[in-house]
Amino acid sequence: MEIATHSNLNDYSENTAGKNLPIWFEPNINTNGFTCLNSNKVTDVVIVGAGIAGLSTAYCLAQAGKKVIVIDDGNIGSGETGRTTAQIVTALDTRYFEMIKTFGEDNTKLIAQSHVQAINFIERTVIKEAIDCDFKRVNGYLFLHDSDEPSNLQKEFDALLICGLHVRLLEVTPGIPTGGKCIEFAGQAQFQPLKYLLGLCKAIINNGGEIYTGTHASEIDHTHIVSKEGFTINASHIVVATNAPVNNTYAMMLKQWAYRSCVISALIKKDLIPTAIWWDTGDHSRQDATPYHYVRLHTYNDAYDLLICGGEDYKVGMPDDITDEHRYLLLEAWAREHFPIEAVIHKWSGEVLVPIDTIAYMGRNNFDKDNVYIITGDAGIGMTYCTIGGLLITDLINKVNNPWEEIYEPSRFSFGSSKPFFKMLQSDVVEVLKKWFFSDLVELKDVKNNEAKIVKIEGNKCGAYRNANGELFLVSAECTHLKCMVVWNSSETSWDCPCHGSRFTYTGKVINGPANKDLHAYYNKELL
Ligand SMILES: Cc1cc2nc3c(=O)[nH]c(=O)nc-3n(C[C@H](O)[C@H](O)[C@H](O)COP(=O)(O)OP(=O)(O)OC[C@H]3O[C@@H](n4cnc5c(N)ncnc54)[C@H](O)[C@@H]3O)c2cc1C
Ligand code: FES
Repeated sequence: MEIATHSNLNDYSENTAGKNLPIWFEPNINTNGFTCLNSNKVTDVVIVGAGIAGLSTAYCLAQAGKKVIVIDDGNIGSGETGRTTAQIVTALDTRYFEMIKTFGEDNTKLIAQSHVQAINFIERTVIKEAIDCDFKRVNGYLFLHDSDEPSNLQKEFDALLICGLHVRLLEVTPGIPTGGKCIEFAGQAQFQPLKYLLGLCKAIINNGGEIYTGTHASEIDHTHIVSKEGFTINASHIVVATNAPVNNTYAMMLKQWAYRSCVISALIKKDLIPTAIWWDTGDHSRQDATPYHYVRLHTYNDAYDLLICGGEDYKVGMPDDITDEHRYLLLEAWAREHFPIEAVIHKWSGEVLVPIDTIAYMGRNNFDKDNVYIITGDAGIGMTYCTIGGLLITDLINKVNNPWEEIYEPSRFSFGSSKPFFKMLQSDVVEVLKKWFFSDLVELKDVKNNEAKIVKIEGNKCGAYRNANGELFLVSAECTHLKCMVVWNSSETSWDCPCHGSRFTYTGKVINGPANKDLHAYYNKELL
C-alpha cells in the first residue's frame, strides 16, 4: 500500500481554505503575485494574515506613514475573505433591539455608526486608489422568517431609528413578492473581495510596505515573529489578523464559536429583480443559533447575473449527520422558492466566528503586551468589522483616541442576551467527549476511495482519507490546538475540529486557527 508523502501532495490550501472554489477566483485574478520571506527584517509593524483584516490594517498604517510588513501562509485572500459573499452592511446578524439590551443605547449607536463609517471608508478607498472591484451601493431588505414574530420587525425598525440608521418599513419586499413586510436599509454595498484585496496590496506596496505570501508565522511574540523557514521579522507592533487568533490559545476561543456557512450561486436572468441584498430574520425554531439566509447579485454575462445565496449554518465539526451536499440542496430549494433562479453554478462553504455577545473582538490582545493586537470574532460581518479593526488598531498604534476602543476590546466579557451560552457549551462538551470515546473506528483496509474515516493504528487515532485514485493520506486525528479529535468534512475535504473550529487539509496542513501547527502526517511505513 502506498501512503502519499508531503513531497507528492498537492492540496488546495495555498489558494483557499477548502476544496470548493468560490465565485471570486475568476481566471483573470492573480492572488499569487508575491514571494516568500527569505531574509530577516526589521519594521514598525508586522501583520500576520493577508485577508481583509490584515490588509485593511496594513493599508491604514502605511497611509499613516508606518513601515509595514504583511505575511500570509497562503496567497492573498486564501482564508475566509476568499470564501465570503462580500455584502458590506450595517444590517448585522444580531438584531439591534437585542444589542440594545446587551450594550445599551449609546454603545449600540456606536456599533451601528462604526459600520456606517466602515462602508464609507471602503468606498473612499476604492475611489482614492482606483480599485476596480465592482463596488456598488445597494439597498438591503430584511424580511421575516416564517418562525419569527411579526412584532420583531417593528421592534427592529424602532431600534434602527434609535441608532440613526437610514431605514424604511415597506409593505412588500422588493424582488420577493411573497416576502411580505420588510425593513429597507439604504446605503449597503457589495464588491468582488479578491479584487478589493489586490487593490489594497498595490496601495500598500506603493506606500513602501512589503507583502510576503507562502510564509507561515510559526512563532509570534511581542517583539518579533519567526517564519516556518526560520526567518525573523522584528517589529515595534505585532498585529495578528489570522481570523481565529493563532497567538491566543485559550482566552478568545472560549468566548466565540466557529460555524460553517454554505453558499450557492445560481443563474438569474438580468433585470428580473433589482440589484440588492436580502436577508431573512432566521430560523427561530433552532435551539443553538438562529441561522438565516443572505442573498446578493453578482454580474455574470450579458444575459445573466448570479444570485449568491448563503445560509444553512452549523457548528464546525458538528454536522448532525447532514452533509454539506444536503445543505446545498436545501439552500437551492430555498432560493428557488424566493427567486426565479436557473442552474446552480458554484457551491462552497466557509467559517465564521461568532462571539458570545455577538460583536467582534478587536484591539490589544488580552493577557499579552500592549503592542500585540488581534482582530477576530467577525460574526459573519467581516467586511465591515475587519475594516473597523484596521482603522481602530491604526489609531491605537498611533496613540490617537478612538471611540470604538472600549466596545470592541478583546478582554471584555459580556454575554449576548440571545445566546443560550451555557446550554451550548454543555452540549458541545458532551458531543466532543462522545466523539473521542465512542466514535466507530474502522480498519484501514475498510476506507474506500473518496472516503475518510478515523482509524486506530498501534494505539494512535488517525484520520485516513483515500482519494479517487486510491492514494491514502494518513494524519494524526488529534487537533494541534488542544487535542480534540478532528471530524471529516467531505465537501471541502478537510479535517475540522469541533472544539474551537481549527481546520486542516487532508494532508494535515493547518488552514484555520486557533491551531497553528499542522497535524502530524504519517509517511510510508511510519505506522504500518
Ligand atoms: C460563507 C461566508 C459568507 C460570508 N459573507 C459575508 C458577507 O456577506 N459580509 C461580511 O461582511 N462578511 C461575510 N463573511 C465573513 C467574512 O468573510 C470574514 O469575516 C472575513 O473575510 C475575515 O477576514 P480576516 O481577514 O479576518 O480573515 P481571513 O480572510 O481568513 O484571513 C486570515 C489570513 O491569515 C492567514 N494565516 C492564518 N494563520 C497564519 C499564520 N500562522 N501565518 C501566516 N498567515 C496565517 C490565512 O492564510 C488567511 O489568509 C462571510 C464568511 C463566510 C465564511
Ligand atoms: S480547535 Fe481547539 S482543540 Fe481543536
